Amino acid sequence: MDWGMKNRISQIIKPKTGKTVMLAVDHGYFLGPTTGLDEEPRKIIAELLPYADSLMLTRGMLRTSVDSKISIPIVLRVSGGNSIIGDDLSNETITVSVKDAVRLNVSAVALSIYVGGKYEHQTLKNLATMINECEEYGIPVLAVTAVGKEMARDAKYLSLACRIAAELGAHMVKTYYCEDFEKVIKSCPVPVVIAGGKKIPEKDALELAYNAVRDGAAGVDMGRNIFQSQDPVGMIKAVRSIVHENVNAKKAYETLKI
Ligand code: R5P
Repeated sequence: MDWGMKNRISQIIKPKTGKTVMLAVDHGYFLGPTTGLDEEPRKIIAELLPYADSLMLTRGMLRTSVDSKISIPIVLRVSGGNSIIGDDLSNETITVSVKDAVRLNVSAVALSIYVGGKYEHQTLKNLATMINECEEYGIPVLAVTAVGKEMARDAKYLSLACRIAAELGAHMVKTYYCEDFEKVIKSCPVPVVIAGGKKIPEKDALELAYNAVRDGAAGVDMGRNIFQSQDPVGMIKAVRSIVHENVNAKKAYETLKI
């Protein structure tokens, strides 16, 4: 791995703890005006940014809703072309050129794969193509193991999806926490972060983050459970304390103003 690639990864996964708190606000790419980001996304993003290690979002949101004077690493979503009401969620394409990602000074790009989905092959090809192009510029690729409604979120399935992503050359993988999560970690040779998923009670989301890190995750890439919380800033701070300081979920929960 070349210097630039390693340097970009260490902007995201902090060398001091080997962990990361990625703030995900890319949901609009297929969900449109997602609750919490539907009005004034610029405001909520600015409030949360000081506590995130990186910001994951689309090109459109980056240009319109984030100050260019920030220094936080950007993880740019580069897949899309689908929607929540469309024919099949797995029907994604690459939406951003590597040239534009470089122009936007991103630290990594992210795209979804739908292993077992109708358009599995297309999304795996998207990943391989992006990796080939990003290797030229030393830009790491985060593979997002997206799951369709019909797919089980168990260790067997998630291990399969994460391992395929790593075998194709993804530098980091984002997946879901599950029972026997250690199996997913053990079989994936690159750092794994977990998504938070749909909004759940704050206590449970913090427990999820704690368990994932305890079981070997390199951190979280969390969105709705932060920006849809009654105390979004408190929530990201609490997640941060779990990920970087090994604070337990109960203690972290007690710091929230809810
Ligand atoms: C999917 O919409 C995106 O990749 C999200 O970034 C990802 O699911 C993480 O966000 P959340 O914690 O809300 O699931």
